[in-house]
Amino acid sequence: EKGGYEHFMLKEIHEQPRSIQDCFRGRLNLDEGWVGLGGIKDYEKQLTKAKRIIMVACGTSWHAALVGEYLFEDLTRIPVEVEYASEFRYRNPIINEDDIVIAISQSGETADTLAALDLAKSKGATILGICNVVGSSISRVTDAGSYTHAGPEIGVASTKAFTAQVTVLTLMALTIARKKGTIIESEFRKIITELDLIPNKVAKILEKADQLEEIAAAYKDASNALYLGRGNSFPVALEGALKLKEISYIHAEGYPAAEMKHGPIALIDEEMPVFVIATQGPSYEKVVSNIQEVKARKGKIIAVITEGDEQVKEMADHCIEIPDTDENLTPLLTTIPLQLISYYVAVMRGANVDQPRNLAKSVTVE
Ligand code: M6R
Repeated sequence: EKGGYEHFMLKEIHEQPRSIQDCFRGRLNLDEGWVGLGGIKDYEKQLTKAKRIIMVACGTSWHAALVGEYLFEDLTRIPVEVEYASEFRYRNPIINEDDIVIAISQSGETADTLAALDLAKSKGATILGICNVVGSSISRVTDAGSYTHAGPEIGVASTKAFTAQVTVLTLMALTIARKKGTIIESEFRKIITELDLIPNKVAKILEKADQLEEIAAAYKDASNALYLGRGNSFPVALEGALKLKEISYIHAEGYPAAEMKHGPIALIDEEMPVFVIATQGPSYEKVVSNIQEVKARKGKIIAVITEGDEQVKEMADHCIEIPDTDENLTPLLTTIPLQLISYYVAVMRGANVDQPRNLAKSVTVE
């Protein structure tokens, strides 16, 4: 059932070209130039008129929501708030009847997310879901929603569910943007063309498994690690850190790269691996300066870069090259090598990768 892989997590990481494709099958048509999500069709109009969208989730799904915030605000110009479900439900949040609350959950059973939805519903908001498990509690209580179609995820560490959640959020944002007129046709075409190429590009990154295993071997004995990114790579940094800590038990933190100098920089010495997402894009030059700041303090840099980048290669200790894509889609690619590195580190440390200590696949208690 592990399809020849040693662990479910490894199998699920390798399934991503397929699971991302499954996620947009029937929802994206390049020839005719459209995207659409059947499940939320009746709510499209309401979404285009929304003054605010609130996304609630936990863990990795909360990181997907943060990527969603960038996508929605950039493409649809609708203000988005991303909330930890557990915090949202206990702080007397302001919820209006014209708000749309989107819950994101792989299992569709997370207690805090479910309770946050109940609260939003009681205040009259429209509640939508993005779930992986068909027929799950969250998919049943929501007014409407879209499944991620990633297939069963067994490993406790979420991998393919995350990339599928980001794919659904991309499709949703594109659908609303087009209906609302906040995206020009050429840009829309460009993004859907690039989205269609993502599964092949993910497959290309997976071919780098040997290089990623070598990087893992170099840092497997670290006691701490830092993950840095800016813009939509910041949630990828958070996700990279979560993946490493939950399966390898190495303490890891994700930070917005520019925040490093407000505290975490004090941690940097020659023992500290710093993973940096430094792909081409609007914040590239800024990230390059952040890398220089780390190097000046003898930290080790493992950089995820766009193919052909020479500047970062000269500074970093290790570089992982990924294919170029549209700025809005980079999280779908940059996440992949970080998942694999965490996996290999955990295996090398002899940890129980699929069932880390103290963790359950779905957290049905608060
Ligand atoms: O099923 P959900 O997406 O609602 O689960 C949320 C979190 O419990 C989950 O993402 C958790 O953080 C994972 N172990 C992360 O890999």
